Amino acid sequence: MTDPLMNLYNRAPIAVESGKGVWLTDTAGRRYLDCVAGIATDALGHAHPALVAALTEQAGKLWHVSNIFRIPGQEALAQRLVDASFADCVFFANTGTEAVECAIKTARRYHHVKGQPERIDIVGFAGSFHGRTYAAINASGNAGYMEGCGPRLPGFVQLSVDDAAAIEEAIARPTTAAVIVEPVQGEGGARALSGEWLLRLRALTRRHGVLLIHDEVQSGMGRTGKLFAHQWFDGAAPDIMALAKALGSGFPVGACLATAEAAKGMTPGVHGTTFGGNPLAMAVGIAAFDTIANGETLANARAASADFFDRLEDLRGRFPDVIAEVRGKGLLIGLKMIPNNREFMGIARDHGLLVAGGGENCVRLLPSLLITPAEVAEAVTRLEAACVAARGAMAQAA
Ligand SMILES: Cc1ncc(COP(=O)(O)O)c(C=O)c1O
Repeated sequence: MTDPLMNLYNRAPIAVESGKGVWLTDTAGRRYLDCVAGIATDALGHAHPALVAALTEQAGKLWHVSNIFRIPGQEALAQRLVDASFADCVFFANTGTEAVECAIKTARRYHHVKGQPERIDIVGFAGSFHGRTYAAINASGNAGYMEGCGPRLPGFVQLSVDDAAAIEEAIARPTTAAVIVEPVQGEGGARALSGEWLLRLRALTRRHGVLLIHDEVQSGMGRTGKLFAHQWFDGAAPDIMALAKALGSGFPVGACLATAEAAKGMTPGVHGTTFGGNPLAMAVGIAAFDTIANGETLANARAASADFFDRLEDLRGRFPDVIAEVRGKGLLIGLKMIPNNREFMGIARDHGLLVAGGGENCVRLLPSLLITPAEVAEAVTRLEAACVAARGAMAQAA
């Protein structure tokens, strides 16, 4: 029998049926502690009552109208995002890659309307991930995403985050439009850039009239314990920012935020979407925003993060043959593994713990921002059992 689904994922062999908080139950009735959370998407866990209420109430009222009409929910969520950030305006999309697409268009259009259409280059970094559309795979710093997908598009430059001289030289070029960076690389393996690095990039881009795009699709909306990851560092705010994932806490919604100056090329007809910003997404987005940005949730994320890092460092100390490094920021946590990360994910799953993969042989823990101290302890207990099993498997293979 052929699989009716396109063969694009190496899927874990569990069929998930329901979820509540940090717990998932499969069709066989087995429960898993979920530290994947839809890859940093279900920021409020599964079936959060405020989100369920917002969605079901809106479902009985109105699902969809075109963006040729005013959509009050869009105006309300945009106002919240503007009030909480550097931005003056917002475009709503459905996904992270669309938010990135809009960010890149916004940057190029900015220079176009300023009379510098030659400024098209988007500078990105090795290890980054920005999504799967053509612009996003060209901007992403992993050649694998481009393989077999035709020639590289012109106007994309890849650098190493560690090559300060090349970064300075690229930003000074007269063809550079923007730099795109994840303040904490997600798919690359939970690599947090330092405040010093981000502030230097901010200063360089400003000096040369180049726009700065932060891709906070994974790191934004509370994931690092601040609403946006760059808010850990005063003065690091970008000109344009892409959001998605936790913005709808499981309901598809993305957003591109920009200052009024950066968005000045985004005029009627330049960009658009059928589904982006639809009333269902906006109702859930507002409920998610109000629950994430209320201080208590962010404080919980910070406390859970500190607890995790303490426990995980202790675990690394006891299993240096299994865990090489604990890294990341907030609840975007990476464990650089010594055994193969994919195999370790399977072992963790056998112990009732779901963790995500990542670059540089990492596994990532990206749980709900509402995870409780008891659930953090339980996650680390299960991780420890997985470390024991992984150590045993390595000894057997040796
Ligand atoms: C930093 C970053 N940007 C963009 C994307 C793409 O988002 P989506 O899968 O919603 O298109 C992702 C997805 O993992 C991401 O982590």
